[in-house]
Amino acid sequence: MCGIVAYLGERQAFDIILKGLKRLEYRGYDSSGIALADQNGLKLYKKQGKVADLEHFTTGKNISGSTGIGHTRWATHGEPNDKNAHPHLSQDESLAIIHNGIIENYSSLKQELINKGHMFRSDTDSEVVIHFIEDIRNNNACSLEEAVRLALTKIVGAYAIVVIDQNDPNLLIAARKGSPLVIGVGKDEYFLASDATPIIEYTNEVVYLNDYEIAIIRKEGLILKNIEAVQTNPYIQTIDLELDAIEKGGYDHFMLKEIYEQPKSIGDAMRGRLNAASGHLVLGGIRDYLNRLVSADRIVILACGTSWHAGLVAEYFLEDLCRIPVEVEYASEFRYRNPIIREGDVIIAISQSGETADTLAAIELAKSKGAIIFGVVNAVGSSIARTSHVGAYIHAGPEIGVASTKAFTAQVAVLSMIAMIVAYKKGTITETKYHELLVELETIPKKVEKALQLDKKSKAIAERFKDARNFLYLGRGYNFPVALEGALKLKEISYIHAEGYPAAEMKHGPIALIDEEMPVVFIATRDGSYDKIISNIQEVKARKGKVIAIVTEGDVLIPTIADYVLEVPVTIDALMPLVSVIPLQLLSYYIANLRGCNVDQPRNLAKSVTVE
Ligand code: G6P
Repeated sequence: MCGIVAYLGERQAFDIILKGLKRLEYRGYDSSGIALADQNGLKLYKKQGKVADLEHFTTGKNISGSTGIGHTRWATHGEPNDKNAHPHLSQDESLAIIHNGIIENYSSLKQELINKGHMFRSDTDSEVVIHFIEDIRNNNACSLEEAVRLALTKIVGAYAIVVIDQNDPNLLIAARKGSPLVIGVGKDEYFLASDATPIIEYTNEVVYLNDYEIAIIRKEGLILKNIEAVQTNPYIQTIDLELDAIEKGGYDHFMLKEIYEQPKSIGDAMRGRLNAASGHLVLGGIRDYLNRLVSADRIVILACGTSWHAGLVAEYFLEDLCRIPVEVEYASEFRYRNPIIREGDVIIAISQSGETADTLAAIELAKSKGAIIFGVVNAVGSSIARTSHVGAYIHAGPEIGVASTKAFTAQVAVLSMIAMIVAYKKGTITETKYHELLVELETIPKKVEKALQLDKKSKAIAERFKDARNFLYLGRGYNFPVALEGALKLKEISYIHAEGYPAAEMKHGPIALIDEEMPVVFIATRDGSYDKIISNIQEVKARKGKVIAIVTEGDVLIPTIADYVLEVPVTIDALMPLVSVIPLQLLSYYIANLRGCNVDQPRNLAKSVTVE
């Protein structure tokens, strides 16, 4: 939610920042802007729309300067337009700020500043911060660094900010609380960004800023201080991220690339952890706390969006294999419900970005009640990864398409490994069953590869239904969360209304919607509820609904009833979501594409939701 980039060094800042903003555009894309500082003062360019609109707007303009800050916005306070785009200037226009997050007490601060004669040019909370910093600096005759620090002690909310000063172009001041900020350390140059993707082509040495840390950056060096002004030592890490991982590599969209990456990303989630032949299955990150899971009285899973769906799949196999009661909670509901956390409860928090504000806050609440947090996270070094007591990265690599695909399957793979380890240790599955599960999980990347061959067929079905106004997705058992995920994918990127339901619940409501216009997607692979779901398909057909069925290879019955059939390879029930979700991802992708939608950056959505 909002992406920030900044540069200080010898090169032209504009090019680096613009390229960085394009890489971060998945975080927000309603407006963008860049401010540059040099000995001649500040230059500010802001434009509603995509980063490409800003690029077009700045063509032929003076974009020189080797210090700069840039921002791509996902509007919270104030509609997306030029004036609300960042950077924002101070009253005297000598300071500029970029901000990601939300300032909760902005309106009282703004009123105080208005009373002192400040005039605001935008409707944003962010502009208030830079005026506040300016006011403190003027009143206390202190340094900018001190003014930023004092301002932050009074600000309530979440932020990652970077400030530049036209009177001191060899200076960037950055700070974070609750919103991510990474500093790339080059030779006499520094790169700042919301994640490492704008940085890696220049340096792989980074410092992840911690909450309440302030970075004072000059060409001569980086100084970190905490909010009490005490200097701390920067911890420089080397990150292992290849440029290929964040480029489209010949695909039309990141989403399609990421769908196709799944045999590899699921394999990466298991690499070095699973070897079925030797019976080896170890997740190093959770080893120390494994007994807490094995002896858990209850597991509470916290997540949002697609990660919540992965949590639902995990609920099925954790209960099934480990016999531990599981509750899957929307993080946003959990945190405001005065939830009951008892000794013996264990929390699993799932997040692709590791920055989702609701999930983070829910974790903090659970921690304050004494819970142990297991993080299942994709983004290395992210806030959720760092705040969890223990965890397992899913190693899916950067996911850029806003609609999550490869993170979902990697999350399910990692959660299934956790369940297998716990079940084995607890003795709730036999040795034979354990080995059968390991062997089957190891074959999943091959099966996903096979499921990807449904590409053409999915596209043909997408052609037929691209103009539908509603879609229903139905599944039972392990395929119920897949139905929810299929419906979410479709609505996110094609803007077609879609609902996922447990198939048996159809008769309690959604059946009223079914007529000859209504496509109904059944995830009807051959499992324990196969016969039951056939009856549900018949109920839809009897009302002239159009049935698209995801079936197991070799099924001879459903193809005689359904209008369209997509066959996926056979696997055990618990792992079927990893395979049955693939044609649903392809179907949504092609429908959205045929409707001319922006698949990678769907309207109103953001990849990393750092606001409540
Ligand atoms: C946003 C994204 C979804 C994602 C959800 C949770 O809504 O658009 O794709 O599933 O946030 O994000 P997380 O990073 O915590 O998995």
